[in-house]
Amino acid sequence: MPEIRREFENHLPRRVVTGRGSSSHVAAICRANGWRRVVLVSDAGVAAAGLLARVAGPLQEAGLLGETCAEVPAEPPIVDVDRLAQRIRASGADVVIGLGGGSVMDAAKVAGLCAGRGGQVADYVGVGRAGGRGLPSILIPTTAGTGSEATFVAILTDTLSGTKVGVVDPAILADVAVVDAALSDGLPPAVTAAAGMDALVHAIEAFIARVATPLARGLALEAARLIGPALPRVCRDPADTAARDKMAIGSHLAGMAFANSSCCAVHALALPLGGRFHLPHGVITGCFAGEVMRHNAGISAADFAALAAALGWGDISAAGFADRLDATAADIGLVALLEGVPVPADAIPSMARDAVQIRRLMDPNPRPVSEADAERIYRSVLYRQGRTEGRFVVAGSGG
Ligand SMILES: [Fe+2]
Repeated sequence: MPEIRREFENHLPRRVVTGRGSSSHVAAICRANGWRRVVLVSDAGVAAAGLLARVAGPLQEAGLLGETCAEVPAEPPIVDVDRLAQRIRASGADVVIGLGGGSVMDAAKVAGLCAGRGGQVADYVGVGRAGGRGLPSILIPTTAGTGSEATFVAILTDTLSGTKVGVVDPAILADVAVVDAALSDGLPPAVTAAAGMDALVHAIEAFIARVATPLARGLALEAARLIGPALPRVCRDPADTAARDKMAIGSHLAGMAFANSSCCAVHALALPLGGRFHLPHGVITGCFAGEVMRHNAGISAADFAALAAALGWGDISAAGFADRLDATAADIGLVALLEGVPVPADAIPSMARDAVQIRRLMDPNPRPVSEADAERIYRSVLYRQGRTEGRFVVAGSGG
């Protein structure tokens, strides 16, 4: 169990609105705050699913909708977020609404910061560089996973270096987070699985991190209690709305948890791999969680026991906890998705070097991860049990 830090701060969204149908209240939320001109930020998938129209309609009727920018790309490149900030500035908006998954919400957070404070995205990359809040924001997740609506981290892609970079500052926390599980009802199974497993990893890493605050540990355990039974249910039956409700709140609480603690080595290892091979973030974090927790097992055994109890996994050993994570990633189809994108073995040393340099994620990990450890973990997950380079087949998957 991590030592309780003597001094700590907690940062949360200013207001959280939850419940099925709560996204239909955004016009009232804007009016209550005196916001008169909205820029609605989203992406093509959200528009195609009909969710953009569902949120835009009432805003239009209320005369609040200024402009809609529904072209945020996945893993948004910095250059696109700079362009979005220019459009927001030009629109004269006094509030930014981000409606989508992590990519959309992260882009909305940073673009709203740039639009409100001036400058470019590059000025804000790093930890604590905002210097104050940007435009007010409402963040509305359409997936249950990233928890981005609850955090002050935004991950963007630096296309020049091919790496992921973070803008990390409490100033980018949402003014209002709206968690409406109904928006995730039609989500495809693969996206549901990847996002849901990512939320589970957030809860685990937030709980075990060396920098966890008591608030974060409480939130992480409650997130685990909700996600543990709901994740397999929603992957088995995408129409299970009760499970969707639990995943929506669970992923939100997990986001709050890691915002006030940290993600750890799973996320550090995920960034170079995701940046270079464009695998969905939740596929990577889901598939790497077991091996990283195996690495942490000697130090985090008591924490794993508490998490296992909360998840409904019973009284299992630390090794059993890691095995259960591997089995979950395989059962809900994430391992098969990882297998679909071959990674050449010669990419591993440089990914390992990059991963260990992400100190904001590696330092909080319970057990240090050396470059050699990182290489071993990459190889072990990507080429299990003597498989050939570039082709993933996980032991026990039958392939
Ligand atoms: Fe994540």
